[in-house]
Amino acid sequence: MSHPHLSDSRATDNQRASAAELMQADPDAGADIYSAYQRIAGGIEGWFGEGAIAVWDALLDFQRRSRVSGHMLEIGVHHGKSAALMAMHAQPGAKVILVDHQLKTAKIERALSAAQPAAGVEFITVHGDSRELGVNPLVVQTYRQHRWIHIDGEHSAGAMTNDMRIANQLLASDGVLVIDDFFSWLYPQVTEAVLRYVRQNPDDFSLFLCGFNKAYLARPHYVHNYLRFCAEELPEGLQARGQETTVGKTTYPAEMNVFGVGPRFQGKALRGPDWEDTLIRY
Ligand SMILES: C[S@@+](CC[C@H](N)C(=O)[O-])C[C@H]1O[C@@H](n2cnc3c(N)ncnc32)[C@H](O)[C@@H]1O
Repeated sequence: MSHPHLSDSRATDNQRASAAELMQADPDAGADIYSAYQRIAGGIEGWFGEGAIAVWDALLDFQRRSRVSGHMLEIGVHHGKSAALMAMHAQPGAKVILVDHQLKTAKIERALSAAQPAAGVEFITVHGDSRELGVNPLVVQTYRQHRWIHIDGEHSAGAMTNDMRIANQLLASDGVLVIDDFFSWLYPQVTEAVLRYVRQNPDDFSLFLCGFNKAYLARPHYVHNYLRFCAEELPEGLQARGQETTVGKTTYPAEMNVFGVGPRFQGKALRGPDWEDTLIRY
């Protein structure tokens, strides 16, 4: 049985093995990934809801079709439930960097093994507090080369600000930053920290989508591509994945240029403002 080889960032280059012996997966076969993930998701403990899974898969598939490539990072891995979907979408040559201060290596290895990532994807685990990432050589080695970053670690405002600063160093010009527990009643400080960061650093990230417990951000010079995706492809993409959802764009761009996504509302897959619900401006 093949297992992904998790390499610790403290290990030497010799000890750091890529996952070349993993079962092969065709990197162009994006359509099958969602159903393959559904088959393994139930066996991995974690926090990754159906709606978020479908949004991630749709966005990651859009990146594949748009030739957006690069490394992936997750801060806050637990047993690897969301990391497994990242692993399925990772392309040969990409590093998948998994950071947790309570690293559950055996559980993560099991999840990644079930994901059957493509040969040539390299998994690197970092056992430590994300506040220490700023001095990790991986940040220099993968500077601005990440296509997908998921922040799901410590849910304090201070940690979120730190993690977004790291993400700003790592996210590629066309990548996506995902933040967990945005608009969660339990962690209002997460929402505050994200909105504060974006307001204070408008050149770093633009928020383009929120919903199903996550926020999605991109670089200001690329975000129009993701906004167009939300308007033109996401509603059908979620329907195709069996999710009855509504994608909303309920005000003008000058006021707030962000889509929302949630459970089906008023029977509409795409909904504009209350005053003209067929108008989608972004
Ligand atoms: C909600 S869980 C992550 C869930 C996971 N993404 C999933 O798919 O199920 C949060 C994780 O963040 C880790 N964590 C909390 N604070 C951290 C910190 N300061 N640095 C790194 N990891 C942290 C915890 O150990 C835990 O595994």
